[in-house]
Amino acid sequence: MGYSSAPTVLGILKHLKRSKSDETSGLPSLLIRDAHIWTKNDTTRGSILVEQGKIRRIARNITERADGEILAQRLLVLPGLIDGHVHLRDMKLSYKEDFTTGTAAAAAGGFTSVIDMPNSLPPTDSAERLRERAERASGKILVNVGFHSAALNDYDEVRAMKSAGAFSMKLYMPSPIASLDIDDDKVVIQVLNAAKQASLLLTVHAEDATKFPMTGEIRTFAEMVRLRRGIAETSAVRRILRLQRPIGCRVHFCHISLPSSLSAISNRSSGHVSSEVTPPHTLLSQNQVKRLGWKAWMLPPLRSHKDTRKLFRAMKMGIPTTMATDHAPHTVKEKARTPRKSSPGIPGLETALPLMLTMVNKGKLSLGRLVSLLATNPAKVFDLRSKGRLENGADGDLVLVDLKKRGRIDPDKFFSKAHYSPFEGWKTQGVVHTTIVNGLVVYREGEITGEPGIGKVLKSGRHV
Ligand code: DOR
Ligand code: ZN
Ligand code: ZN
Repeated sequence: MGYSSAPTVLGILKHLKRSKSDETSGLPSLLIRDAHIWTKNDTTRGSILVEQGKIRRIARNITERADGEILAQRLLVLPGLIDGHVHLRDMKLSYKEDFTTGTAAAAAGGFTSVIDMPNSLPPTDSAERLRERAERASGKILVNVGFHSAALNDYDEVRAMKSAGAFSMKLYMPSPIASLDIDDDKVVIQVLNAAKQASLLLTVHAEDATKFPMTGEIRTFAEMVRLRRGIAETSAVRRILRLQRPIGCRVHFCHISLPSSLSAISNRSSGHVSSEVTPPHTLLSQNQVKRLGWKAWMLPPLRSHKDTRKLFRAMKMGIPTTMATDHAPHTVKEKARTPRKSSPGIPGLETALPLMLTMVNKGKLSLGRLVSLLATNPAKVFDLRSKGRLENGADGDLVLVDLKKRGRIDPDKFFSKAHYSPFEGWKTQGVVHTTIVNGLVVYREGEITGEPGIGKVLKSGRHV
């Protein structure tokens, strides 16, 4: 990735340059000249003019002048990526990550919008908490940020969370964020009904930890991963699908780790059900857990080499709907403990795009599929109507990549506070060159160039 030093928040602040924006002249315009541009199904050569934070024009030649210009002859322009599943922490978990470092990591990884999960401290489990979290984020974020809320069965509160702009209610089955007896079907049905009545998406971490507990002595991470059985995921997926069918609310299954779970979801041909995969579950297997221990410990856990290969193939064929990073930073101290005490989760925002561009360069994934998984489809699932595509009138969220440039995953250079990765040392081809959020350059060649506050707080259903 090639950053010059390990950046910290102070590092970021030192590098801040004021944008030309001011109250009287509005946002500066930006012209990206002579680039390769991804439009719909192919790349074409041309220029993009961004004015007032929106894409104004895409054409072969644009002669008018703009406040800023990027000559992008070697670069490929993609719609800014959208990550529907990140844990930005902040508040009482700021020691793991905060809104500025997390969104700096997003910008460095080519993500221009991210949606934060509710297992924060305090948790996002009411409309009021969601508003507080959004208020805390505004002014601190470098990319656009939306919020998920915790799954509840109280209809009035669910409706209030929807009005506050929640993108979904997250049902965390291993241990629900708000106290709910989710082993009781009646309670899950209440949650599904509340989601339906409030027209709110339900996102699900499908792992049935009660029915399939991890028992016995666990000495190694490899043992831990094997005991966290795959059937816990597939059976949870089937159960939610069975309960959802008569209700018909929208359900999005997070970080599917097994081909059998994916088949159960894709056999349901209703438009109300979608699925998500992550880079680690499609690229890494239990073999890496043996070697890397806590660095490869996440939930759901990594699976067998065979399952990973099948999941990648399904992704390549277009079966899962989206890809998300599940960026879940913890301190090394919290991770480098005994397996049962180690915190699951790894940072992912700064590795996803270089890893997937490498797959494109190797001919293992098409560029079109990459854009669908990381931009167009998340925009559809989360109803971000003006994002996820390069078109006149769309938001000025773009990522410029150098598809040929080689790099190496170096966690010391992450903007995230979590400086480790199971992909450490992997050689990549395809790097993020520049990230543009709302028409402003926030990241360029290893440096954060924008100011916290450039990112907007996104609210579901509010279309500008
Ligand atoms: O690995 C994980 N980390 N899985 C989860 O479901 C939660 C996440 C976290 O918040 O750390
Ligand atoms: Zn999860
Ligand atoms: Zn997660």
